[in-house]
Amino acid sequence: MRKPLIPGLGLAAVLLTAALASCSGGEDPPPSGADAGNTPPDAGTPPVDGGTPDAGGDAGGDAGMDAGVDAGGDSGIPDAGEDGDAGTPDGGGDAGPGVPDGSVVIPNSLSGFGLFTGSPADGGLKPVAGNVPYELTTPLFSDYAVKSRTLHVPPGKAAGYHARDVLDLPVGTLITKTFAFPADLREPDKDVRVIETRVLVRQPGGWEAYPYFWNEAQTEATLANGGRVVRDVQLIDEQGVTRKFDYLVPSKNQCLKCHHVLDGAQNQVMVPIGVKARYLNREHTYGDGQTRNQLQHLAGLGMLTGLPPLPEVPHAPDAFDSEAADLDTRARTYLDINCAHCHNPKSQAGETSRLFLDIATMDKFSLGICKRPGSAGSGVGGEFDIVPGSPSVSILWYRLNTEESGKMMPELGRAIRHDQGSQLIFDWIDAMPDRSCEE
Ligand code: HEC
Ligand code: HEC
Repeated sequence: MRKPLIPGLGLAAVLLTAALASCSGGEDPPPSGADAGNTPPDAGTPPVDGGTPDAGGDAGGDAGMDAGVDAGGDSGIPDAGEDGDAGTPDGGGDAGPGVPDGSVVIPNSLSGFGLFTGSPADGGLKPVAGNVPYELTTPLFSDYAVKSRTLHVPPGKAAGYHARDVLDLPVGTLITKTFAFPADLREPDKDVRVIETRVLVRQPGGWEAYPYFWNEAQTEATLANGGRVVRDVQLIDEQGVTRKFDYLVPSKNQCLKCHHVLDGAQNQVMVPIGVKARYLNREHTYGDGQTRNQLQHLAGLGMLTGLPPLPEVPHAPDAFDSEAADLDTRARTYLDINCAHCHNPKSQAGETSRLFLDIATMDKFSLGICKRPGSAGSGVGGEFDIVPGSPSVSILWYRLNTEESGKMMPELGRAIRHDQGSQLIFDWIDAMPDRSCEE
């Protein structure tokens, strides 16, 4: 548990800053105190998509799509000075210290949560006892960022086990995800720069999401509700190829685009995504040097109740370990963790596209097979989402593979292609028995 969140992250991180160009938002003032005191009702009063004050005031456009790789066209980019979080119903004072209902006060600085000691500049960011690091069997791809995650459940409380859905997490739960870029992915512990730490907070009224952006000195991360753009990130990928792109730290409002389900009244309700038994069901080497199954570790700490014997717990394989599962299972797992938070029957994008990529979907048409896209026009690689046996004319593969903003999928959260993921889905479609969709 005391393992450095990002091993080997020390002074090297500071030296690297030169390799990553400046960020646009470094100079703006920290969000006001009132802002930071955002109160629970946030999740209960979700902004309708169109009305969401996405950072950058990008005239209804989606910052994620617009920002993409096209550096110059700044319009959609969340930028300095937009941290005001205008449309959010700020509760101002009522989340003060000592709130009786268990609300978590949202600090302006990440250190204010008390979840970590140290910093990337000072020996590495280390989770405190009770803030348990975890990994997923297959994670979301985000421009090759190296991610580390932690889960904190308030003392005396526990998460409830679920076979399929996210764990049932109590009020006061804090989940963090930290994004960092090593200069060279083949040496992920060297020359690392930590960019952002995202925090999900379980308040009495529901979940809230907050982005914290690390300073260049790597000593502190500050609440950045408006998001950020880090220009000209450069790294060497696993194949030794240099990749350069603008990395987008999503704004607070953009978190909801992925982290939501629609409730009965079609409101977007914020939810966590990855903390599901099947993704947590793997081993992790903890600070004491011991390797344990993560779910059993949490249960052993009293942080998880209702865990059945491990053979009964579902398991999502590592999508890129061909020994771990067959091609179909691995491809479906990749789509589940990378796409299903939007493409499922209970989300906004699922409603729009009627394309369901969650692991539970068995209906071939809903998976995209011989399905004509509802929305996209021409120029997305074909006429059908999936043409069995023909990946190169399948829209699903095209949109996963392209780096063109407005066309690429996910529409938010990446600027560059995930070569491995693109290959996996290509192989998956290629292996399907040939079939013409025109008949
Ligand atoms: C492009 C979609 C997308 C956006 C935008 C997004 N997330 Fe996530 N997030 C995910 C997915 C998928 C996972 C689970 C997979 C993983 O952890 O790699 C996740 C995981 C997390 C986790 C770990 C707990 C969990 O839900 O599994 C935290 C914390 C988190 N996100 C916070 C945020 C915050 C805060 C924002 C906004 C600043 C945000 N995310 C924006 C897709 C997104
Ligand atoms: C942040 C939400 C989001 C994520 C994540 C996401 N999509 Fe989409 N997707 C959408 C929206 C919204 C549409 C409808 C508008 C459009 O076509 O651009 C869509 C449409 C599509 C379409 C056209 C489908 C049709 O039949 O109309 C395909 C194919 C697609 N997505 C594939 C993917 C794949 C593959 C992934 C994961 C690698 C993914 N998407 C992840 C939001 C998302």
